Amino acid sequence: MKNIRNFCIIAHIDHGKSTLADRLLQATNTVTERELKEQLLDDMDLERERGITIKSHAIQMDYEQDGEKYILNLIDTPGHVDFSYEVSRSIAACEGALLIVDASQGIEAQTISNLYLALEHDLTIIPVLNKIDLPHADPEVVAEQIMDLIACDYEDIIHASGKTGLGVENILKAIIDRIPAPEGDPEAPLQALIFDSVYNPFRGVEVYFRVMNGQMTKGDHVKFVNTRKQYHADEIGSLKLKQQPREIVSTGDVGYLISGIKEAKEVKVGDTITHVDKSCEKSIAGFEDVKPMVFAGIYPVDTQDFEELRSSMEKLQLNDASLVWEPETSAALGFGFRCGFLGMLHLEIVQERLEREFDMTVITTAPSVQYHAYLTKNDERVVVNAPSDLPDPSKLDRIEEPFIKANIITKADFVGPVISLCMDRRGTLMSQTYLTTDRVELVFEIPLAEVVFDFFDRLKTISKGYASFDYELIGFRASKLVKLDILLNNDPVDAFCAIVHRDRAYERGKRVCEKLKEVIPRQQFEIPIQSAIGNKVISRETIRALRKNVIAKCYGGDISRKRKLLEKQKKGKKRMRQLGNVEVTQEAFMAVLSVD
Ligand code: GTP
Repeated sequence: MKNIRNFCIIAHIDHGKSTLADRLLQATNTVTERELKEQLLDDMDLERERGITIKSHAIQMDYEQDGEKYILNLIDTPGHVDFSYEVSRSIAACEGALLIVDASQGIEAQTISNLYLALEHDLTIIPVLNKIDLPHADPEVVAEQIMDLIACDYEDIIHASGKTGLGVENILKAIIDRIPAPEGDPEAPLQALIFDSVYNPFRGVEVYFRVMNGQMTKGDHVKFVNTRKQYHADEIGSLKLKQQPREIVSTGDVGYLISGIKEAKEVKVGDTITHVDKSCEKSIAGFEDVKPMVFAGIYPVDTQDFEELRSSMEKLQLNDASLVWEPETSAALGFGFRCGFLGMLHLEIVQERLEREFDMTVITTAPSVQYHAYLTKNDERVVVNAPSDLPDPSKLDRIEEPFIKANIITKADFVGPVISLCMDRRGTLMSQTYLTTDRVELVFEIPLAEVVFDFFDRLKTISKGYASFDYELIGFRASKLVKLDILLNNDPVDAFCAIVHRDRAYERGKRVCEKLKEVIPRQQFEIPIQSAIGNKVISRETIRALRKNVIAKCYGGDISRKRKLLEKQKKGKKRMRQLGNVEVTQEAFMAVLSVD
């Protein structure tokens, strides 16, 4: 146990985490040069393209220093705010962290929030200035930032380059010298923390764990404390480049467990593994059932593909435990699913996987957050995941929405535009701190609904790519929210209905009506388009009636021509959406959904 070191890497996207991790694996002979060609820690297609480690993994290295043999467990952490709970569990499995900062970029928001998580868990931080080979690297200035942030000395900071390999030996030495060995009682009942799991269609879910106390032996009868499920440890082992089966994984070490678990959702990150017979007294603190933050409807483009979509969703859920969904119907879109996601990136990933892995073309309705509506009568809380769930406004005392604390780091030049953007999104500026003369940290409290859509893109645009953003949920607060209906030919169209802030309702209603007017072709009759709150119409557009129809064209013409035209119309119909008694094309429908 005294020769084990467990550590993770904290870094902002693109600061060189993967490259440096690869260097460590190479220096410890964990992998060969050729194997390195493949990006090691990111092994899902999608991840490589996005350059984001979506699921965390772990890898074990053997290293010898001064004649002593050490086991170094690197626990990878996903670098995106949608997965911050997983990050916190990976951190809980470590005693130390490498804090990697790009010497040409400086500290970013994501780095700071993950660093705070690490400090909360009393991790030893090893600061690393990376990419110092870059001509425009500014190691002195960035070192100042790091020293301010973690109160360390200049000598503590390791200068490194994942590109040239500089500093790698120093990093390995620091891991051994500075990070404490794990503590824990080998004689105590088994207590192991699940920090990750990976779905394997052939072998079942692979569970990654860190033993805090006791030990796990192959064949043990174990139970997961929070899910109360029991399994036999069919195979356990350590995570080298490939899995290496072992008889025992002991206190302080990291390993994997395979026991024929069929579905990802049976394994909850943060759960505790113990023995059925000799159970530990307490489960490991910090367990949470992750809750979806963003909701959207997913519908097949072709309504006939509903069953296929259902089976695709089921398969997808096998390896994505965070995805939740239930069937939903929409008058406009037919049968589909109301889905809950961890955040916008998660939503995009699910949508992309449906398209790539299952060849499904889907419509995703405008994303929204979860609202809590309270009834006047008994203050009963109604959870609202879709606008249609909202009770009659006359019965409501108040509606609460989730608020976040948003952390933004930007260049001083862009402070003005960033503040305007956040104020415009109903944000309140809580603090403004100069990290250096040129870099400012802004903290806002802002409704989650205002950032789920298009916020990050806007932030990037107005800051010319120089702002970074991170957030945490701080709770639900009452807001002046209303349900905005869109009526087409006097019928409300559920797919366009939304919960919005009262001050925004008019503007949004007007924009949707205008857009609809633009995209709906004129028909035989006049069509009013209205937006309304309750019974009150707040804006209106009208589509004038069409004077001639298609068949009129073949007046006096031959019958086959007429039939052809009718046939053509029928074909066109397949990709039409029926909105009340008006039909619009698929494209038109999507165009309106994207209005925000
Ligand atoms: P994510 O996986 O997206 O979080 O990024 P990451 O932090 O793992 O960064 P990655 O290792 O993928 O490196 C990002 C980019 O920086 C790549 O183009 C690397 O080739 C480059 N890079 C990484 N380390 C160095 C370095 O030390 N010097 C230079 N010049 N470039 C580097």
